[in-house]
Amino acid sequence: MNKVTKINKAVFPVAGLGTRFLPATKAQPKEMLPIVDKPLIQYAVEEAYAAGIRHMIFVTGRNKRAIEDHFDTAYELESELEASNKDELLRAVRAMHPDDMDCSYVRQPRSLGLGHAVLCAQPLVGNEPFAVLLADDLMCGEDDGPSVLTQMVDVFQEIPTSLLAVQEVPLDHVQRYGIVAGKPAGDRILKVDRMVEKPKPQDAPSRMGVAGRYILTPGVFEHIRNNPRGAGGEIQLTDGIAKLMATEGVHAYQYWGKRYDCGSKQGFLEATVELALKHAEVGPGFQEYLRTLSTRA
Ligand code: UTP
Repeated sequence: MNKVTKINKAVFPVAGLGTRFLPATKAQPKEMLPIVDKPLIQYAVEEAYAAGIRHMIFVTGRNKRAIEDHFDTAYELESELEASNKDELLRAVRAMHPDDMDCSYVRQPRSLGLGHAVLCAQPLVGNEPFAVLLADDLMCGEDDGPSVLTQMVDVFQEIPTSLLAVQEVPLDHVQRYGIVAGKPAGDRILKVDRMVEKPKPQDAPSRMGVAGRYILTPGVFEHIRNNPRGAGGEIQLTDGIAKLMATEGVHAYQYWGKRYDCGSKQGFLEATVELALKHAEVGPGFQEYLRTLSTRA
């Protein structure tokens, strides 16, 4: 029997506490923080939609209502914009919930870790491969190139095992990442045989760090469920994926593009500046403003 290789569903774990952004995240989700004019979660949903995925599954927690509202129809706002002929804004608001896109929400009752959040989505995912996108990793494909998840979906058609997005990171940053090592298995593809969560530089098996994009086979659910709690008392996704290496195989794909770690203040600011410079409306003026700043310095 042929394996299912079409990815129909994307899981967005958005139930974390976002402590690195307190107090901004006390009453609003980290994923609703905007980069220029779109919240982080919208960039991730658009990336999944561009990769052909039409069912978006959000794993939410307390204080996350704003995410549900964001992807819901806003009748009053839309009729106001219509009445005042603000067509461009109306198009932007309507584009967020295309007719062929479904959104489902499931609650993670406590922040028990990323693995646990993914497990909460199991009843909605069922027995098929699915994507996981961490919205605080903002991923930009190369200019005019396909999005990172689109590249991964293409790789999955050829190699239908779980697939991790990886990038080469500086040695002194390995401690911030899950690090993988393995054997070359194609263009920018590795067959993973080692995975270490946040190793010290001297213990890192490579400099290939996992970014927040995954395609996972449903076999991962049983491994997450059966794993004891890992680092920090949390149920780790990495531990579940590491078990898959032995049973089904796992590959890593070194994507084309750039990742901004918007879960950190530094990464958030870098994304804001770089995306503002590329923004059609504010880009030229912002570039001019930055120039005046650098001449003043
Ligand atoms: P982070 O490690 O960035 O944790 O989670 P966090 O709570 O969001 O942020 P900090 O570190 O306290 O500032 C990575 C992703 O996993 C989700 C988060 O929402 C984020 O998208 N997550 C994490 C959950 O959904 N549930 C959890 O229990 C933990």
